[in-house]
Amino acid sequence: MQKIVFNAHYLMYFDTAITDYWRALALPYEEAMAQLGGELYVKKASVEFHASARFDDRLAVALKCERIGNSSMVFTGAIFRGGELLITCELVYVFADPASQTSRPVPPGLRSLVGRFEAGESVLDIRLGDWAELGLAAERIRTAVFVEEQGIALESERDDADRSALHAVAFNALGQGVATGRLVSQGNASGRVGRLAVHRALRGGGIGRAVLDALVGAARQRGHREVMLNAQISAQGFYLCEGFVARGESFIEACILHREMSKLL
Ligand SMILES: CC(C)(COP(=O)(O)OP(=O)(O)OC[C@H]1O[C@@H](n2cnc3c(N)ncnc32)[C@H](O)[C@@H]1OP(=O)(O)O)[C@@H](O)C(=O)NCCC(=O)NCCS
Repeated sequence: MQKIVFNAHYLMYFDTAITDYWRALALPYEEAMAQLGGELYVKKASVEFHASARFDDRLAVALKCERIGNSSMVFTGAIFRGGELLITCELVYVFADPASQTSRPVPPGLRSLVGRFEAGESVLDIRLGDWAELGLAAERIRTAVFVEEQGIALESERDDADRSALHAVAFNALGQGVATGRLVSQGNASGRVGRLAVHRALRGGGIGRAVLDALVGAARQRGHREVMLNAQISAQGFYLCEGFVARGESFIEACILHREMSKLL
């Protein structure tokens, strides 16, 4: 028993990091590749072992896109334990047509997105607007999250408040709506945030926070002194992180346990 990580596992760690790379680009992989008209296939993977990771180590995996050729994308990665470099890798992916498995040029949209991301630029465009402007994109995300994923009835998900609400939609670099939420003013004093939803594949990456910030910012601009919302119990921790406090007892709405929460502006 060597008590060190089996060498082949490191490739899996790098593969997991690649999945996170697409998330960091705000690209839900499946839909993004469908829109780009191809898929990325590993052509070559090489791993160099400098030192071993041990049982119970906390590891950090770093990854960057080193260069983009005509149809290839080359990633370099490194695994660290604290400040100590353990493993490095090079992964060569080829963009190809899934049906014929023949290579295709990396689409210009993907090429420029990766370049902007590697330069530290934002990959999200959060737009605020009314239902006429953003309804289609908002509806698509809300249906996927609330109706299809959570099983909320379509009649409960849609309501008249959509027509008067200010909507926020986060678009990725391919123009795909990936998160949404809305603000409904309640007189001058307060606003109610609701219908906050992030694409299932992109949660935990700060997109929900960015959309909520945009809505809270809009409430502030409107002169509201407070923002309220009915949080699903599973999302209560998220709102607590964003400075909301719970009040009153929990209650059932659309068959889901909720809690009222508020934040003073
Ligand atoms: C709830 C939701 C909107 C949060 O968006 P997200 O993009 O996943 O959240 P973020 O990545 O911006 O998280 C921001 C912070 O909240 C924390 N957080 C996120 N979801 C959490 C949860 N369910 N419980 C506890 N903390 C949570 C994150 O860890 C992060 O904390 P950090 O700053 O300390 O790292 C999203 O998960 C979602 O769409 N869920 C399904 C639909 C839903 O429940 N909507 C809310 C209806 S009230």
